[in-house]
Amino acid sequence: MPATEPNTQRAIGVFDSGIGGLSVLQAMRAEMPHERFIYWSDSAFAPYGERSDEFVIDRSHFITEQLIAKGNVKTVVVACNSATAVAIESLRQQFPDLPFVGVEPALKPAIGVSQTGRVGVIGTHATLQSARFEKLLSKVQADALPSQCEFVIQPCKGLALAIEKQTEKAQTDTQEVEQLCRHYLNEMGTFGNATGQIDTLVLGCTHYVFVEELLRQMVGPKVNIISTGTAVARQAHRLSAIPTQSGVETKEELHDTSPDSIQLWTNGSLSALEHAADRWLSLPPQRCHWIAPSAS
Ligand code: DGL
Repeated sequence: MPATEPNTQRAIGVFDSGIGGLSVLQAMRAEMPHERFIYWSDSAFAPYGERSDEFVIDRSHFITEQLIAKGNVKTVVVACNSATAVAIESLRQQFPDLPFVGVEPALKPAIGVSQTGRVGVIGTHATLQSARFEKLLSKVQADALPSQCEFVIQPCKGLALAIEKQTEKAQTDTQEVEQLCRHYLNEMGTFGNATGQIDTLVLGCTHYVFVEELLRQMVGPKVNIISTGTAVARQAHRLSAIPTQSGVETKEELHDTSPDSIQLWTNGSLSALEHAADRWLSLPPQRCHWIAPSAS
């Protein structure tokens, strides 16, 4: 089947409640360096993890419409565990012709690497208390049988927002984030590779990837820390590739290094987005834009 259009004409849309999804964009950029991306940081309405399902569903629909209008998107990556947990099914129903890729806590890979059989999972309330997460957990536990595996589930109220605020302060004040991380990890038990200890920690929120180094210092070198960016990027790549006559995408078709190949939008703090874009994606401030917060 011939390609109907070069990949460069349509962008991959990505959204999150804030800057957390930039950790997924980072992985997608590495996986698909020639694609166009349009990123929406919904900071004016964060944190999603402490909002009602209806609220997050409404925002997710609104943002998808904005991404379609702004970037003529061919795929949408819901780079937020909380929005994936509560909204992805309804997005798929509402936009049946648009492929959606979501992010979920990587429970299955965690079981694969855990030696002690104790796996810690941190995320937002919205994610960890969702029906979708409960279903995933039961399935992973059933598949793991007869080997033993125990999940220690820890919702981390306030952590995503603290990471967001820390970015606004340009990384100078890390105290609140440190206190929250220490508090929640203490609640979970002890970390290490001895019997009975948690030897694997799943980051079930895209914001937490940006404090991985801090978490590493707290749990120690023997603990596996698992995030989902790379797996999501591969899936987005698969769904976004347009087949050519040979059935294989070509680099020529995908090549796009123009300055508008990545555009980032926020309805919150522009300086926080600029700072995060520079720090984690080495992108200049010209790629970042502010848009007035509007109700969905
Ligand atoms: N980054 C998000 C997630 O992966 C949402 C955090 C929030 O807004 O509460 O869950």
